[in-house]
Amino acid sequence: MTTSSVYAQRRAQLVQHLGAKGIALIPTAPEQQRNRDCDFPYRPDSYFYYLCGFTEPHAWLVITGDGRSTLFCQPKDPQREIWDGYRLGPEAAPTQLGLDAAFSVADLDAKLPALLDGCDAVWIPFAIHKGLETRLETWLASLRARVRYGALCPQTQRDLCGVLDEMRLVKDPHEQAILRSAGKISAAAHIRAMQCCAQMLRTGQEVREYHLEAEMLHEFRRHGAQFPAYGSIVAAGANACVLHYRADRGRVQNGELVLIDAACELDGYASDITRTFPANGQFTGAQRTLYELVLAAQTAAVAATRPGARFTDPHEAAVSVLAQGMLDVGLLDKNKVGSLQDVIEQRAYFPFYMHRTGHWMGMDVHDCGDYTEPSEIGQVSQRQDALTGDTIKDRPARILRPGMVLTIEPGIYVRPAYGVPEAFHNIGIRIEDDAIVTPTGCELITRDVPVAVDEIEALMRG
Ligand code: GLY
Ligand code: MN
Ligand code: MN
Repeated sequence: MTTSSVYAQRRAQLVQHLGAKGIALIPTAPEQQRNRDCDFPYRPDSYFYYLCGFTEPHAWLVITGDGRSTLFCQPKDPQREIWDGYRLGPEAAPTQLGLDAAFSVADLDAKLPALLDGCDAVWIPFAIHKGLETRLETWLASLRARVRYGALCPQTQRDLCGVLDEMRLVKDPHEQAILRSAGKISAAAHIRAMQCCAQMLRTGQEVREYHLEAEMLHEFRRHGAQFPAYGSIVAAGANACVLHYRADRGRVQNGELVLIDAACELDGYASDITRTFPANGQFTGAQRTLYELVLAAQTAAVAATRPGARFTDPHEAAVSVLAQGMLDVGLLDKNKVGSLQDVIEQRAYFPFYMHRTGHWMGMDVHDCGDYTEPSEIGQVSQRQDALTGDTIKDRPARILRPGMVLTIEPGIYVRPAYGVPEAFHNIGIRIEDDAIVTPTGCELITRDVPVAVDEIEALMRG
């Protein structure tokens, strides 16, 4: 299957939802100013890219219920191309991208009212693109001004995100192949950073968090990945207890753990890996105790990741192992918090494990897709949260199906506190892998970097 037929197939699938007289308008992302005349590196909008694979800015895709796809893109401009680089241009776009027609983006205002004429519903991604609704209103107003000449205005606006989110939630073979490649590159980067860390310490060099970040980024780019998929977290020692810590200039000390949550984006698809390892390549007793506990939680969560299970099952499996472990190692005092069941019901584990065990992953690292099962959306129950007292609405969680992709990322974070064994103070551990749900279970696509204690120690000796 050629790449352009992959996109054509997705557009054809979308057309099924639009209705014969529907029209979908999908702008790509705007360029973002970083400061003065410098922009952030450009990345196209995920929905737009998903439907046509075009990476230039200032472009719109229009798909109509009759199955036609029209691109509006930057016109060829030899002067601008000297400064900003090659533009595909509307003449070459239809053949190159497998579309029906293409025009200059400068023609949008002139052409859109005519394209909207006679349509009954306009589909746009709601609340994603600032100014899109205003732009659409202008086109609708200019169409309405022509009703006495026979123009027919669409009567409804529909959110495109719902339909596209459902499509994107199940990854097709083309997407799965890219995700596997992204996972491999990111895994290689983790190995590189681990080995570099131990090697630098062995040779008496000072190691800073940014040294390890640099190793990661080098490896991403060396293999053709365009970006990090999200801001890299490289957290030495106590910094690992800050969930959204960024790679900074913290000193990586002999005897401490390092938590790296960093991964690349390849051809529009994210990966998301966390590894926690001893800076010098050798776990201490206390580090190993907590590490083995998080790993056991992850193993339980992986086993719970299979078709037919609920999205929440891996989380519940991980929480059960972590909570029991917290009682066993003395992070939680049985005399105060009671049994395992009490710990889970009262969320007594929360001071040490305060995030969920995973999220959808795909083009966006926290990818789109409902976490509620659509066929059971009407089944709502209410409860009071044990910790906050807030009223929470529960709906049945999404049922996992082959092709869905999610992360599995339990952790433990121990801030110094009265009653918490000192040996565990300032230890932060997370182990995160990316899983594709298969017909029988799940495939971990990021395990080229190991998680077992002895394997990590062995690779850091090398
Ligand atoms: N790196 C973001 C996350 O793990 O969710
Ligand atoms: Mn994650
Ligand atoms: Mn992560």
